[in-house]
Amino acid sequence: MDFPAPQEIREALVRQAEQGIYGYNIVPKEWYQAYMEWWERRHHFAIKQDWLLFSHGVMPVISAAIRQLTRPGERVLVQTPVYNGFFSVIRGNDREVLQVPLIREGAEYRVDFAALEAKLAEPETTMMLLCNPHNPAGRIWERETLQRIGELCERYHVEVLADEIHCDLTDPGWEYIPYASVSEQCQKSITCIAPTKAFNLAGIQTAAVVIPDAELRKRMERILRTDEAGEPNTFALEAAVTAYTRGEFWLDSLREYIFENKCQAERFLLTEIPEIKLMAGRATYLLWLDCGALTAHAGEFARFLRARTGLWLSDGSLFGEAGESFLRMNIACPRSRLEDGLRRLAEGVRAWKAHKNL
Ligand SMILES: Cc1ncc(COP(=O)(O)O)c(C=O)c1O
Repeated sequence: MDFPAPQEIREALVRQAEQGIYGYNIVPKEWYQAYMEWWERRHHFAIKQDWLLFSHGVMPVISAAIRQLTRPGERVLVQTPVYNGFFSVIRGNDREVLQVPLIREGAEYRVDFAALEAKLAEPETTMMLLCNPHNPAGRIWERETLQRIGELCERYHVEVLADEIHCDLTDPGWEYIPYASVSEQCQKSITCIAPTKAFNLAGIQTAAVVIPDAELRKRMERILRTDEAGEPNTFALEAAVTAYTRGEFWLDSLREYIFENKCQAERFLLTEIPEIKLMAGRATYLLWLDCGALTAHAGEFARFLRARTGLWLSDGSLFGEAGESFLRMNIACPRSRLEDGLRRLAEGVRAWKAHKNL
């Protein structure tokens, strides 16, 4: 995001810096309360204090979970297109990435349950990473979808890790559903949550892990301790507590602003670049752009746009084979920059069509 974090967080961090004692810390009860109250109030999920663990980030937890809950050579299932970090963390731990593409239905994605069940049933598949809401498509998964995933994963003994890092960035009037809140089966899972995306704190490195099941939690506590990935950073504690206790108004204004950006981008694409189709995401500040009418190789197209116009969009193929003809655009920026970016995109598309004789 291009927006500075809320003033309240900046002031809290300055106060924390000024108090001068930076020795080892403990997780205070305010940290647990901040997460519990926020999730209860905003996401209607009553998290118990015991279920919560501190961590330095979502990716360290995913990495640790892969090592603790699966064995080398086993398969970790992801629904593509999906956040590129999932591929590297699975492969980096010597596990195999099992891609189950989402089904495209017009401007929406839905889960391919037939393919999902077939892949979950394979004995090599031992874990699934669920992105809820989904990056890059901005898809908020419905209760029925999450419930069915929970049933299937229980039936085939597949561990589920729900990455919910984008959950607070929904369009106004839209809510995400926490995976672990859906059913008993879904509760037997690991959920990663964090204030980092919503409040622009990713460089502060902080997250929380929610594990209702005591046995699973003990196994995860064990590996996070081994990795030394759960020691609380003083500034991370302060930033998270302030975000969840004093950041609500700021966040809701941000959601309105991003939504307006999204509407503006959608109008611009419809009228100025009809060759590019916007997928209908209700969450995240990321636009998932179908450029299939212009290219089957998003990487080449992204490099061309950057060289010609200076506009840097993400190459969709980084998000799996299902993203080969897509680009991802970050619209968490001031409107003037968005407008500038959209103009560059239109100019780049014109140049690309001339270059390719389209
Ligand atoms: C879905 C998803 N998970 C995890 C991360 C990274 O999380 P962290 O910085 O807490 O490791 C990102 C960052 O873009 C993301 O989009």
